[in-house]
Amino acid sequence: MAKLKLGVLISGRGSNLKALIDACKGDDFPAEIVLVIANLPGAGGLGYAEEAGIPVQVIHHRDFPDRERFEDELHQSLKRAGVELVCLAGFMRLLTENFVNRWWDRLINIHPSLLPAFRGLHTHERVLEYGARFTGCTVHFVRPAMDDGPIIAQAVVPVALDDDAESLAERVLREEHTIYALAVRMIAESRVRVVQDRVVAQGASAPRGALISPILHRHGPRGSRNPHDAKAR
Ligand code: GAR
Repeated sequence: MAKLKLGVLISGRGSNLKALIDACKGDDFPAEIVLVIANLPGAGGLGYAEEAGIPVQVIHHRDFPDRERFEDELHQSLKRAGVELVCLAGFMRLLTENFVNRWWDRLINIHPSLLPAFRGLHTHERVLEYGARFTGCTVHFVRPAMDDGPIIAQAVVPVALDDDAESLAERVLREEHTIYALAVRMIAESRVRVVQDRVVAQGASAPRGALISPILHRHGPRGSRNPHDAKAR
């Protein structure tokens, strides 16, 4: 069967791009990357694409008088390459409604939080500042508002007491790499439908139950009586 043609848009390091490149190397993976575009000339991720022999293009937003002209260029390049699904992978430019409409339900993004919580920048710092016990990452279809749109896949990552933004980012990033490839696979296998602006996924199941933090220990601190502990009663 023909593979789904991906265009990946990056701005920097490109570790999610690398995860997609690696996934696409699998013979049974139903998608292939046909073009990588960076909006910044020095984007580190371009090296991963070049190494893998994938065509790359730099479309520097500063070379255009306005957003519309910049996005026109993006659009034309993606069309020329025959792209069917656009994957934003650390692409740090907001896209206008016009561009989003042109790629409606064919444009996905990864964000390092459990959306709709903690949209925007400095996610991990804000998670820690807020004292959230769980965070994670989300792959979603893009809608005109920032970090908004039907959710395709999420992974939950517990926040540890001694986490700083860096350690948390590292654990979340590991999960990003897994769920981005998973989401692309599901779309390429036509297992994802958007119904009333929500994703209905077929052939995907998640464990039922609950993740609880802090973990309820059998015995509370010394001398205290834990109401959850049958022996204490
Ligand atoms: C990733 O953590 C991605 O989720 C985030 O930027 C990082 C890019 O890393 N994207 C956003 O915050 C989008 N709102 P990468 O370049 O190594 O893939």
